[in-house]
Amino acid sequence: LNKLIDSTLSNPKLSNETRAKFEKEMDSYFSLFTRYLNEKSNLSNKLQWDKIKSLTPKEIVSFQDLMSSKNSSSSKEDSTDLSSNLNKLAVLKLNGGLGTSMGCVGPKSVIEVRDGNSFLDLSVRQIEHLNRKYDSDVPLLLMNSFNTDKDTQHLIKKYSGNRIRIRSFNQSRFPRVFKDSLLPVPQDFDDSLDSWYPPGHGDLFESLYHSGELDALIEQGIEVLFVSNGDNLGATVDLNILQYMLQTDSKYIMELTDKTRADVKGGTLISYEDHIQLLEVAQVPKQHVDEFKNIRKFKYFNTNNLWINLKAIKHLIESDTAKMEIIPNEKQIKRNGQDYNVLQLETACGAAIRFFSNAHGVVVPRTRFLPVKTCSDLLLVKSDLFQLQHGELKLDPSRFGPNPLIKLGSHFKKINNFQERIPHIPKIVELDHLTITGNVFLGKNVTLKGTVIIVCSEGEKIDIPNGSELENVVITGNLQI
Ligand code: UTP
Repeated sequence: LNKLIDSTLSNPKLSNETRAKFEKEMDSYFSLFTRYLNEKSNLSNKLQWDKIKSLTPKEIVSFQDLMSSKNSSSSKEDSTDLSSNLNKLAVLKLNGGLGTSMGCVGPKSVIEVRDGNSFLDLSVRQIEHLNRKYDSDVPLLLMNSFNTDKDTQHLIKKYSGNRIRIRSFNQSRFPRVFKDSLLPVPQDFDDSLDSWYPPGHGDLFESLYHSGELDALIEQGIEVLFVSNGDNLGATVDLNILQYMLQTDSKYIMELTDKTRADVKGGTLISYEDHIQLLEVAQVPKQHVDEFKNIRKFKYFNTNNLWINLKAIKHLIESDTAKMEIIPNEKQIKRNGQDYNVLQLETACGAAIRFFSNAHGVVVPRTRFLPVKTCSDLLLVKSDLFQLQHGELKLDPSRFGPNPLIKLGSHFKKINNFQERIPHIPKIVELDHLTITGNVFLGKNVTLKGTVIIVCSEGEKIDIPNGSELENVVITGNLQI
């Protein structure tokens, strides 16, 4: 690592600013890596299952309770009243991740979702609408990474004349290490992109601080940062949560939502050694994993919609106390035609909850958690199930019950294949369950209702003709039951 640092710091081609940023990044990286080595060898750091306690009603509040509390209300006058808090708010979208799992080469946030609008466009429209409606000036911040910055800058250029302040900064770029030797993969500053990685969204705190954006926000009198994943279109500014945060002087609020059997991956909040803490499945001892997945015992999971006090972030960084659990993530890269296992150490911003005073969980409706992780999720948000209103996706009023369960097979994994096979999104407002596997193509104006299962055997092809209406059917090959 020293060799990499020395060669970079003496590289005359790099600007002073680049060298200074690199030096800070390497300091943070060194501290993370040393902590990883210490924790690995120290078993007493492991979580003790019997110390886990449920949260008290004071630590976890329901969204309905916030709405009906005497200090906040959903009536029109009161919402105008609550909007005076907007001068204390900034919105931040986590935008450092690539959409690789959906086969997308650039940032996930530039994928087209509705009417030519990407995730990023929709986030911009939401904030523009909010500012227009309440005559406010809430800024939108984007935390990019070296992987996403260029495409993002290109996309947001078109908003430079609009009435919205968009600020962006880059998160850290850390070196991957070879798993066997633990030596850094990059040999010099300009080494190929796959030698480096963005260290998870837990990096938000340091990167926001070092970019100067944190101080700039505080100087403007902004107190609260609303953070969410770039692909969560349900994460809109909520005046009641903002009011509750200010009124209770809470420094950190995590939005949670009811866990279903499909949400076994999400982290949950627990009480541990007298503080509130995020518990992720990776921390759970093997013999308790089934218990962790039990939706009656651990009822809620983290949506990653977070409301965080800016001065508390500043204090966290200046006191060097942001020591979130390290998530080691293994990847493979190619060097000279050979595969190598590499390690990247990441942290999550949800795990920082335990460092903030008076932290709370708020249980919100599922509508505030609408992420797009797969092309099945993309089909849902592109469909007639939702209506687009000022960048927000509103559930069609004729829809009852939970969202349909959509399972598209591996032929639909990559976004290009998805677009090729389903060039026109079917009508699904009356759909409950859809499974499609194999070589299947949908035509125009297709309507799906109830439970529809289309299974194409290998070597065959199924074309669903234009205008088809399928209701409670199983289609396999040419056979229709
Ligand atoms: P994650 O990668 O943590 O969660 O990204 P995910 O989207 O559930 O990941 P997959 O699909 O299981 O792999 C959550 C948000 O955090 C951003 C991403 O862009 C996304 O909006 N992110 C992630 C960063 O900004 N920086 C990172 O280093 C990692």
